Amino acid sequence: MAKDAIAVLTSGGDAPGMNAAVRAVVRSGINKGFNVLGIKRGYRGLLKKDFVEMDLRSVTNILSLGGTILYTARSKEFQTPEGIQHAAQNCMDMGVKGVVVIGGDGSFRGARDLSERGIPCVGVPGTIDNDIACCDYTIGYDTCLNTIMDMVDRIRDTSESHDRCAVIEVMGRRAGYLALNAGIACGATSILIPEVEVDIEKHVIERMRKTQRTDKKHFIIIVAEGCGVDVHELAKHIQAETGVESRATVLGHTQRGGYPTVKDRVMATRMGNYAVKLLMNNIGNRVVAAQKEDVVDYDIFEALNMTKTIDMNLYNIAHEVSI
Ligand code: F6P
Repeated sequence: MAKDAIAVLTSGGDAPGMNAAVRAVVRSGINKGFNVLGIKRGYRGLLKKDFVEMDLRSVTNILSLGGTILYTARSKEFQTPEGIQHAAQNCMDMGVKGVVVIGGDGSFRGARDLSERGIPCVGVPGTIDNDIACCDYTIGYDTCLNTIMDMVDRIRDTSESHDRCAVIEVMGRRAGYLALNAGIACGATSILIPEVEVDIEKHVIERMRKTQRTDKKHFIIIVAEGCGVDVHELAKHIQAETGVESRATVLGHTQRGGYPTVKDRVMATRMGNYAVKLLMNNIGNRVVAAQKEDVVDYDIFEALNMTKTIDMNLYNIAHEVSI
């Protein structure tokens, strides 16, 4: 008798550690007696029936790789009722009894829709933004933070040498977790995040003037992308208001690449393994979540309706000490 199959896909923006999760799903799935199929380019590949047989060796040496060997995409077609139905039918045609979806919120909405059409799906949180409400941490976040820290440290060397202000935009489409924690790790004078109403005069200019009076001559301002602030314009404004020569840097997609940290590899492995165990027990429509040191799971509907708030205490500490 043919073995049951499960499938795995990565969707949305790639994140370091996604490969570690793919590896864990493939190896754990095979261990539990499944055939494991990889789906290339997320839901777009699912619609095109772009399945590939995975075996134990197909995931050799990917643990340390950034990006995703399954490729990723954002599919508009999949978001239509016809698209979802078509995708569910493709799973049935391939004998797929469950799908592990590695991605962010948008990907989980797809997993919910597929689950509703009879294909049990389990979401594994993979996004550098760390913006999934039911999770303390998402795969890729730790690596991304370390990458930002490394790059801001380099920028600090040059801006300190020139007595300049470095205005640095970091990723985070809707959330300020990357900006806040990188800002703390890099000693930013000011951190602008979408969760706190942006007030350039109060949060940037006044703070800089205050520290200038203590003879501080170089500054780092971290701006989350989700604030919608143009860092080049902000740099000009700072220079005009404070007299400190300023330069803007958008870190951009350099933040998404690179080999994953220990934390991302370990957590991705644990979460991938956990997802397979859920599917093995015929449990779908769940999101795997990291909370403190534990791996737990939530109903997808519930997870998508939760809200995540920024730790204002952390925000206050950040500004209290960078003076
Ligand atoms: O969601 C992850 C993320 O890297 C965001 O921080 C960023 O806004 C977005 O993806 C960029 O997406 P793209 O690679 O499609 O430009």
